[in-house]
Amino acid sequence: MNRLLKDWFRGSGKATAPPRRVKPVLHHDKPGPRIEVNAWDTSNVVRAVAEIVGTHPYPYNELMLMATAYFYHRPELVIDIGTHQGKSARIWHELGAYVDTPALVHTIDLFDQSHPEFPGKDVGRCIRGLPVEQHVGDGAEVASRLLDEHAGKVTLLFLDGDHSFDTVVKELELVTRIDDGAVLLHDTFYQPGSGYNHGPYEAVNDFLKRHAVEQVIHQNLGLPGMTYLKLA
Ligand SMILES: C[S@@+](CC[C@H](N)C(=O)[O-])C[C@H]1O[C@@H](n2cnc3c(N)ncnc32)[C@H](O)[C@@H]1O
Repeated sequence: MNRLLKDWFRGSGKATAPPRRVKPVLHHDKPGPRIEVNAWDTSNVVRAVAEIVGTHPYPYNELMLMATAYFYHRPELVIDIGTHQGKSARIWHELGAYVDTPALVHTIDLFDQSHPEFPGKDVGRCIRGLPVEQHVGDGAEVASRLLDEHAGKVTLLFLDGDHSFDTVVKELELVTRIDDGAVLLHDTFYQPGSGYNHGPYEAVNDFLKRHAVEQVIHQNLGLPGMTYLKLA
C-alpha cells in the first residue's frame, strides 16, 4: 500500500488548512428564478459556521440549505421563529459576515416555561452580546408585526417554533406577505408509518395545494429535515 493511503487510514495525514473567508458568489450576474449559488464557496462557509455552532440541531445538509438561501436571496431581514438556545439565529448572524450588507436578524420565542422544548436559562445562549433582536411572544403574531414594520424588505422567514400542524399552517401563511424572499421550515422529515411528528411536512403539503410556488426543496436525508419554499 502506498504511503499516502497508509497515512490516510491511520488518520495521520497533515491537518487541513482552516477554511478561507470566501465571499460566496452566484453563478450568474443575473440570478434566475430558482435558487443557485456557488456550492463550493458555500461549502467552505458552512464548514466555518459548523465550527462555531456544531451540527446539532442543523446537520450539514441543512446548514447548506440555510447558507444557500441566504446567499441567493441576500435578505435584508431574517425572522427566526423559535429562539431556543439561539443556534439558528447565530447561523443567520454568522452568514451575514460573508456579505456586504448583513440582514437584520430578529428571533422570537414564546418563553413559555411549560413548553416541552423551552430551554430555560439557556434561551438565546448562542447570540448573547450579538446584534440579534430577541422578542418574546407568539411567533406568528410577532412576525406579522415585523413584516408590517419592514414591508418591502427582502425577507427570509425561518419556522422552528411549535411544530404542530395548525401552528405551522398559520405561520406559513405569512410568506404570502413577502414579495421578495422565501421561507425555510425545520423538522419536515417524512417517513410513512413512523411515529414522528409530521405536522410541518403536512403543513407544507397543505400550503402547496393552495398556493403557486416557484420552487420547493426538501432536504430530507433523515431526521430532522428542512424544507425551502419560494412563492411564484
Ligand atoms: C426546536 S426549538 C428551536 C431551536 C432554535 N431554532 C435553535 O436553533 O436553537 C423550539 C423553540 O420554539 C419555542 N416556541 C414554541 N412555540 C412557539 C411559538 N408559538 N412562538 C414562538 N416560539 C415558540 C419554544 O419555546 C422553543 O424554545
